[in-house]
Amino acid sequence: MKKLIIMGGYGNGTVVQSTVEDINAVKPEWEILGFLNDRETEPINGYPVLGKIDKETVDRYLPDKDVYFFYTLISVKMNHKFLHKLLDLQIPEERFATVIHPTAVISKFAKIGHGVCIQPFVSVGPNTVIGNHVQIYAQALVGHGAKLDNYSYVANNACIGADVHLKEGAYLGTNTSTLEFITLGKWSICGIGAVVLKDVPDFAKMVGNPARQIGSVE
Ligand SMILES: CC(C)(COP(=O)(O)OP(=O)(O)OC[C@H]1O[C@@H](n2cnc3c(N)ncnc32)[C@H](O)[C@@H]1OP(=O)(O)O)[C@@H](O)C(=O)NCCC(=O)NCCS
Repeated sequence: MKKLIIMGGYGNGTVVQSTVEDINAVKPEWEILGFLNDRETEPINGYPVLGKIDKETVDRYLPDKDVYFFYTLISVKMNHKFLHKLLDLQIPEERFATVIHPTAVISKFAKIGHGVCIQPFVSVGPNTVIGNHVQIYAQALVGHGAKLDNYSYVANNACIGADVHLKEGAYLGTNTSTLEFITLGKWSICGIGAVVLKDVPDFAKMVGNPARQIGSVE
């Protein structure tokens, strides 16, 4: 069994925990050691809080090569502001676990990086390239040839057209749809229900159908 430490807690952290438990129910793969959390000290869903999300705590576990990490501090508008917190931990990318829910359907021609969580009933088409620390939430569809760069985020029910490119940190909200072949800029946000028909500039905040820019991410 590989060992897993989830950085985060209630919310995205417990979603990852739940996915790992579902994986284990099919075939035991991960021993969840616990969570790292800056605020909580009490167990989260029965798993201990092992310490804060800092280098000192991580360095206690890094020497054990069977220990993997998962980073879940994600917030719609603050993702890039949290990034230094992850990078400061200096964890080698290959020590981040990728967890894929047993009900997800992933093409054998898809490439998937480290620290990725793919949730229930997601479909990932052939020739997609998914980077590191990408989150794909329940029932999302990722069309063939799509490229999801590091830290991009796909919320529930989002539908990504073929050959769409999500640049670093691009965020697609719940129920968004994108036309094929478009590019979503770095750390841009497409709000719930947006229908995105054109390229989105870096840091743009888009809403509506057809999606229009209402501002920029700070
Ligand atoms: C777009 C978003 C990030 C909000 O950005 P914001 O800067 O806080 O925007 P505000 O809430 O101040 O709204 C600004 C305007 O855009 C409108 N708006 C906000 N989100 C919208 C959306 N998804 N669709 C249409 N209009 C929207 C607001 O009604 C408001 O209009 P008004 O000025 O006429 O009153 C947020 O609404 C959103 O959709 N987040 C995605 C959440 C998500 O998908 N989560 C999934 C995981 S749970």
